[in-house]
Amino acid sequence: MSAEVKTKKITTNTLMKRKKDGRKITMLTAYDYSTAKYFDEAGIDTILVGDSLGMVVLGYDSTHKVTIEEMEIFTSAVCRGAKSAFVVADMPFLSYQVSIEEALKNAGILIKAGASAVKLEGGSDFIVKVVERMVQTGIPVVAHLGFTPQYLHVLGGYRIQGKSMEAADFILEQAKNLERAGACALVLEMVPEEAAKYITENLTIPTIGIGAGRYTDGQVLVCDDILGKYSDMTPKFARKYTDLKTEIYNAAKNYINDVTNAAFPDETEIFHLSQEEADKLESCSCK
Ligand code: KIV
Repeated sequence: MSAEVKTKKITTNTLMKRKKDGRKITMLTAYDYSTAKYFDEAGIDTILVGDSLGMVVLGYDSTHKVTIEEMEIFTSAVCRGAKSAFVVADMPFLSYQVSIEEALKNAGILIKAGASAVKLEGGSDFIVKVVERMVQTGIPVVAHLGFTPQYLHVLGGYRIQGKSMEAADFILEQAKNLERAGACALVLEMVPEEAAKYITENLTIPTIGIGAGRYTDGQVLVCDDILGKYSDMTPKFARKYTDLKTEIYNAAKNYINDVTNAAFPDETEIFHLSQEEADKLESCSCK
């Protein structure tokens, strides 16, 4: 079944130890109970309830419209399925940028829904303060730098970040501030491999890369990408391990065909009256 059977809950200590031991951290997004359960049973280390659910589950054109209420529902579903994995819940756009008080209140909603940590995008002085207060309050925080989808419009689209020595140094400086503030890990998105390696080697907290090459301490992908389910966008860095889009299409086609041709349901898929009750019904005159 699983390559590595885990019985113990993964914690922030496990993630730190992985970096020390040079053992890669695995992370996938999940948004529902069953997917989380199967990923957990397969031995995934961490599950991210990403605000990417706005696009791949809810069909929005970006992550901006996702609300804290939506994140709460999906987070609690995932947490019911994940017994061992460390569950990280994304804080949606404007749920942590307005004030520290609001950020703490909203992070609390996701922790009460069962998350082990929350994830925030960005590395401004304000975000660093938010991270510091959350950690002081007892809320583990995963930071997110490089391409940060909530800053899509400021960044001018889906663009690789950290493309020069100066730009890589700027990300590292922000990462170090977040590390000092108490962040337990850093997601690095769409950063050249050399820059991600440089940042990873200069941090004590683990980095988890997405489109950031081979040298980060772990890797994360969106589940709908590895499953071949979401087809509106196909990132270069995503690897498709199966083709659920075709599987779902074919299953629906076959079902429609069976119902249309009265091939569904068959004898094995129906309930019967007892012979006695069936006879009574047969002889009943009332219609
Ligand atoms: O929302 C998300 O799925 C993410 C990953 C792309 C890291 O933040």
